Amino acid sequence: AKDHLVFFSPSGKRERFPEGTTVLEAARRLGVDLDSVCGGRGICGRCQIVPTEGANPKLGIKSAADHVSPWNAVEARYADKRGALEAGRRLGCQAKVCGDLVIDVPADSQVHRQVVRKRAEAYPVKVDPLVHLHYVEVREPDMHDPSSDFRRLQEALAAQWGLADIHADTAVLKGLQKALRAGEWKVTAAIRKGRDLVALFPGFRDTLRGLAVDIGSTTIAAHLCDLVTGDVLASSGLMNPQIRFGEDLMSRVSYVMMNPGGDAEMTAAVRGALQELAAAVAAEAGIGTDEILEVTVVGNPIMHHLFLGLDPTELGGAPFALTVDGGLEVRAREVGLSLAPGAFVYTLPCIAGHVGADTAGVVLSEGPHLKDEVTLLVDVGTNAEIVLGNRHRLLACSSPTGPAFEGAQIASGQRAAPGAIERLRIDPETLEPRFRVIGTELWSDDAGFPEATAKTGVTGICGSGIIEAVAEMLLAGLVTPDGIVDGTLAARTPRIVAEGRTFAYVIREADAAGPRIAVTQGDIRAIQLAKAALYAGIRLLMDHYGAPSLDRITLAGAFGSHIDVKYAMILGLIPDCDLAAVGSAGNAAGTGARIALLNKASRAEIEEVVRRIEKIETALEPAFQAHFVGAMAIPHKSDPFPHLET
Ligand code: FES
Repeated sequence: AKDHLVFFSPSGKRERFPEGTTVLEAARRLGVDLDSVCGGRGICGRCQIVPTEGANPKLGIKSAADHVSPWNAVEARYADKRGALEAGRRLGCQAKVCGDLVIDVPADSQVHRQVVRKRAEAYPVKVDPLVHLHYVEVREPDMHDPSSDFRRLQEALAAQWGLADIHADTAVLKGLQKALRAGEWKVTAAIRKGRDLVALFPGFRDTLRGLAVDIGSTTIAAHLCDLVTGDVLASSGLMNPQIRFGEDLMSRVSYVMMNPGGDAEMTAAVRGALQELAAAVAAEAGIGTDEILEVTVVGNPIMHHLFLGLDPTELGGAPFALTVDGGLEVRAREVGLSLAPGAFVYTLPCIAGHVGADTAGVVLSEGPHLKDEVTLLVDVGTNAEIVLGNRHRLLACSSPTGPAFEGAQIASGQRAAPGAIERLRIDPETLEPRFRVIGTELWSDDAGFPEATAKTGVTGICGSGIIEAVAEMLLAGLVTPDGIVDGTLAARTPRIVAEGRTFAYVIREADAAGPRIAVTQGDIRAIQLAKAALYAGIRLLMDHYGAPSLDRITLAGAFGSHIDVKYAMILGLIPDCDLAAVGSAGNAAGTGARIALLNKASRAEIEEVVRRIEKIETALEPAFQAHFVGAMAIPHKSDPFPHLET
């Protein structure tokens, strides 16, 4: 037969092929990225291509519409049943080469689509999951050929997809015979890493779904993702049911130490919540949980251990040894999840005893290891997890900030929930406050504020509210840089009141809408201790890195997305930096879980980066104490904040 030159765009790959070769076949032989789920049977429509027309003297090709075979019955049936093809498009598995051709492969026909992530304007993440779908037609059983159903499925996958030696465990085998018969020997196999059968669906199917999970000590969030397009199909969140065993992490570890079997209880609780979330997002997307083929999980070390069923006791005290730190791959069943029968769960690696897989997720999402600029990543919870560096070097530590930033240990403190004061301003002349509470956009001196807060009331002050309150008190001169509430101002305003030997600033008196809310001397001390710990941890990493200043600061997590970065700097929570380069990453840990779900190479990437991260133990560093003392002052005893001047 005659040969024709076929050129693929955008890959630029070219080769001569005998007349009659299908475009899909040509693409495969050249390693061109052209998708197919049905294996060239004209069912899936993933293989669409555009044969272009016109001469290309540079390539020495004249391409024309009649250089591909005319529509055949299979293609006509596809267009009839599954929706017409866009103008100019053909099914690559049906169109045959009959002359020199330039073939365009549209982005949606490529297996590895580029999805631009937040990190990653400059570093798009390719959708390249571990699980792929393969439609196969399996031989029926026959009295004269006594081979098993699984054997014949293996043969079909080998012959039709070149997948030799597929494994299946009993959970998957259990449904095998039913699926084969329900599909009349036509089935779609979900296969992971070209090796493990994860699920078998009767007939043809082209939906590929996975779940990305962020287990926080307070809330658990799950995102159902389309592993073909990279889209999030549904998201849901739930309070972590472990809260009934202890509000914060350390009290949960003590629960384990005091109650034999307590770890198993907490493991069951978190797994139950995860299953519930999987069911919720699956229902929202209109699928069954058995269609969830892969899961990725991030969480702090204690959540990570409890989810995996590992005893977290050692994480409760020095030297904070993790049971395991690398990325882990386990069957979903093994961790109590009932999803696709052979589904796997991947947990991102933990960095150190205090710096968990959640921080690894933040790193994967923000990509400091890809950049030249020196980036600081901070995730504030009961412990601040801190990462600093760039493509050359990354360091991490954690710092014991305590729960003050979450509104705990604060006299009028509360969790960030409707009714909590989250923004506060103080008039430097009158010393009168105005504030906003979560649940309304109105300020307390706006008309309609009482009506807007009638349901929630004004119940307390949350972490971001207390930070603004202390910073505004400093700016108004109510608090000295040493953190002392200035009692002499009681002469100027009734809002400064004596409480024992110290003073407090009253934001509001008790009334029908809620209790008295005040900032006490004790609150200011608690904030000073927390912010000094955070700042000292950051400075320690800067010392180790040898970075006199930072190019970028990114605050991750819920706290990071609520806090006003300007006030964080006024208070000296973070070192001086161009305010335009200080930002919030939102739920970056969850984004990291999603990246690991969508792109298999990102798992090796983050594992390699985590191994490379230099772990600094703040407790062992004498310099930490010195930095801590200096950082007790607001914003700092000696460090300059030139960017605050402007
Ligand atoms: Fe499925 Fe062409 S490969 S329709």
